[in-house]
Amino acid sequence: ARGPWQECFEAAVQLALRAGQIIRKALSEEKHVSTKTSAADLVTETDHLVEDLIISELQKRFPSHRFIAEEAAAAGAKCVLTPSPTWIVDPIDGTCNFVHRFPTVAVSIGFAVNQELEFGVIYHCTEERLYTGRRGQGAFCNGQQLRVSRETDLSKALVLTEIGPKRDPATLKLFLSNMERLLHAKAHGVRVIGSSTLALCHLASGAADAYYQFGLHCWDLAAATVIIREAGGIVMDTSGGPLDLMSCRVVAAGTREMATLIARALQTINYGRDDEK
Ligand code: IPD
Repeated sequence: ARGPWQECFEAAVQLALRAGQIIRKALSEEKHVSTKTSAADLVTETDHLVEDLIISELQKRFPSHRFIAEEAAAAGAKCVLTPSPTWIVDPIDGTCNFVHRFPTVAVSIGFAVNQELEFGVIYHCTEERLYTGRRGQGAFCNGQQLRVSRETDLSKALVLTEIGPKRDPATLKLFLSNMERLLHAKAHGVRVIGSSTLALCHLASGAADAYYQFGLHCWDLAAATVIIREAGGIVMDTSGGPLDLMSCRVVAAGTREMATLIARALQTINYGRDDEK
């Protein structure tokens, strides 16, 4: 009744809730932590466990579908978005928070067909908030419809960002100088909460006016993009052009004016592409 991908959407919701339960329980327990691309890019046994659960259940139910998932990519799987139905999964977004028991962690499941995002499901594991967005059908959090902020003035904006995994001096300098530029433009504040997907959900909820980041991945962005667009917001490339899911960079805002102002203020930090790794 609710479109051709109803069964997939329901499976995503079920699995996000199941995964969330596992993550919530594991948050307070001892963890085995390893590093990936840098000393600040972390992974635990729970990331693997949850990813394996989500992917194996989806594979059983939808054997012809394709998958892009964070820990599989870290193990060398290619990130390519073909026209086939494709699931884009981040088992724990905010792994560093998870490691430190900082209670801002999420499961993110996006779904694309013909290279177009159809729906996104993001579950805030500790606050038990389920964010969903379906193309043409609106965005919701625990049943309540989401609307973005209509702010167009950067000097009245609360802006969210994330640091990204690279910590070499040149990258850090650019990161800090981007933040400085927004503060010079008199943004009310800049926040870093440690989870790209949940920051993007705050934007979708109208709890912040803009988001930007260099160094995030397609699995941080896919589900949240549908949720923001369905809440009336804009998701674009940091160049001001159309969003490229594989480009490891994004600007999002409630209004196109705000997104454009942020994009113009930023200097590029080069993180390469997800589909060229
Ligand atoms: C990361 C977090 C972090 C952001 C990174 C993401 P992960 O996701 O969202 O805040 O800075 O860009 O990759 O590794 O915890 O799934």
